[in-house]
Amino acid sequence: LKHFITVEGLSKPLLTEILDTADSFVGMGAQQVKKVPLLRGKTVANLFFEASTRTLSTFELAAKRLSADVLNLNISTSSTSKGETLKDTLQTLEAMQTDMFVVRHSDSGAAHFIAEQVTPNVAVINAGDGRHAHPTQAMLDMLTIRRHKGQFEPLVVAIVGDILHSRVARSQIHALLTLGAAEVRVIAPTTLLPKHIEMLGVRVFTDMNQGLKDVDVVIMLRLQKERMQSALLPSESEFYRLYGLTNEKLTNAKPDAVVMHPGPINRGVEIESAVADGPRSLILDQVTNGIAVRMAVMSMAMSGQTAEKNNVVEA
Ligand code: CP
Repeated sequence: LKHFITVEGLSKPLLTEILDTADSFVGMGAQQVKKVPLLRGKTVANLFFEASTRTLSTFELAAKRLSADVLNLNISTSSTSKGETLKDTLQTLEAMQTDMFVVRHSDSGAAHFIAEQVTPNVAVINAGDGRHAHPTQAMLDMLTIRRHKGQFEPLVVAIVGDILHSRVARSQIHALLTLGAAEVRVIAPTTLLPKHIEMLGVRVFTDMNQGLKDVDVVIMLRLQKERMQSALLPSESEFYRLYGLTNEKLTNAKPDAVVMHPGPINRGVEIESAVADGPRSLILDQVTNGIAVRMAVMSMAMSGQTAEKNNVVEA
């Protein structure tokens, strides 16, 4: 790795290496590795132009556990509010010898744009750009699935809800298909499905009970209201009736099916509390695994930068 902008187009061996590296950080059992020196002397700047709880906090913890110095730029009180351009903000932070930018932005393509702007020895990690991609979320979801199910090959995975606006769904679909999942389904009303989504290699269902039939993993998504035109906004009660995950709808899935959600969850809109807090829910495991996956991606990106400096070719 050099930058980590998207999982689309990355190879199965590389995605597997990220998962294996993350697994080494999770360590034996549930005990997280607390501190390793892989990023000692490096500076990581978290640039979050959109709100975040899980991603920002786990990137910060991951960088600290890798022994990096961490800078969380508060965008709302930074000089961007005085009209400073993104490029000038980046150059300013680079002048402080920043080695890595972790970027969340509402514009699709923002992380790619930033990767083109920075000097060659700076790594850029995408922490979610518009509707495009959320690659570390997808990889922490893959780690969670692998740790609970072992192999991807036999798995039928359903992704449910607002597929249209979801960068998480797009990244999960690419990751699951690359890692060899038997079948990836999307379940949504037609108004919340991207045109030609089946061309990605997924099966499309508009009926939730049919779509959940015999699945191994159910991934619920948040309704991304902030990205919706008001005409598209479904009634929450109607959405919950048709697409909210309840224990009753979950009876369609395999008896050992697990339930995931990237968060933040809207209880009673996408998911019933009894399911979110129930024995099949992996929602908090996803958060925990986020630290290990972000440690893996940051350490791999930094060693990729070093390898490039020494003329070693990396992905
Ligand atoms: N899943 C996710 O990206 O959550 P946050 O918006 O809280 O970072």
